[in-house]
Amino acid sequence: MIVSRSQAELKKMRRVNCLVAEILSDLRDMVEPGVTTEDIDQVAEQKVVAAGAAPAFKGYHGYPATICASVNEQVVHGIPSSRPLVDGDIVAIDMGAKLDGFFGDSAVTVPVGNISQEASTLLQVTEEALSRGIEAVKPGARVSDIGAAVQERVELNGFSVVREFVGHGIGTALHEEPQIANYGPPGRGPELTTGMVFAIEPMVNFGKPAVKVLSDGWTAVTRDGSLSAHFEHTVTVTTFGCEILTVSTGDKTAKLIASDV
Ligand code: MF3
Ligand code: CO
Repeated sequence: MIVSRSQAELKKMRRVNCLVAEILSDLRDMVEPGVTTEDIDQVAEQKVVAAGAAPAFKGYHGYPATICASVNEQVVHGIPSSRPLVDGDIVAIDMGAKLDGFFGDSAVTVPVGNISQEASTLLQVTEEALSRGIEAVKPGARVSDIGAAVQERVELNGFSVVREFVGHGIGTALHEEPQIANYGPPGRGPELTTGMVFAIEPMVNFGKPAVKVLSDGWTAVTRDGSLSAHFEHTVTVTTFGCEILTVSTGDKTAKLIASDV
């Protein structure tokens, strides 16, 4: 069953997701050559705890950190490390938090110094694919419309969508129903209704879609070694479309996405 949240619950979800967005924006500003993803993780945990919230990933099935930091060919679930970032890297920072019983979840992929034109296009296309997925969220749409919109945008550019990991419902648990694939035909799955809350998170590979998980049990990498990017927002279905919950107050991202419903 997919839960629809009340206005009181959505208020709480706005708070935690806004917190996640604000911290993620601070973490993005830390990214430069020489910084380690462990440094970024430490700051993330400090900020989450200082806000009275708790890291959502730390301890989840034994995951050891507050953020996932996935560099270059790492797709998702990279464990923060002591390797300094170098000019030309891309790093996906994914963070979740729990506040007042509710979860927030968001990710961005950030360039380190000067990156290649190819890497830059990959980031742009992945972020655009997330936007297309979000634009598909409106009452009366079906769950698979989201992935269909994501996939169309990605493949138009010759990139590929990761199959093994999906977006998800989110609320009083980090992962709730439904699973939201980033590929497939539209018009399938449950109908979207107001108050549902989803974390939409396309993972896009420069090369082939196949991934494998390293022996640390977490880090997913592209099998062909090509670059991969990941962006994620938490959104709620509104009467007229959807509202992005993972936006900080100072963000230029349009919060309300109106659809022609
Ligand atoms: N955003 C990812 C997800 O929703 C990150 C999870 S990391 C984990 O699945 F450690 F919590 F698994
Ligand atoms: Co997620």
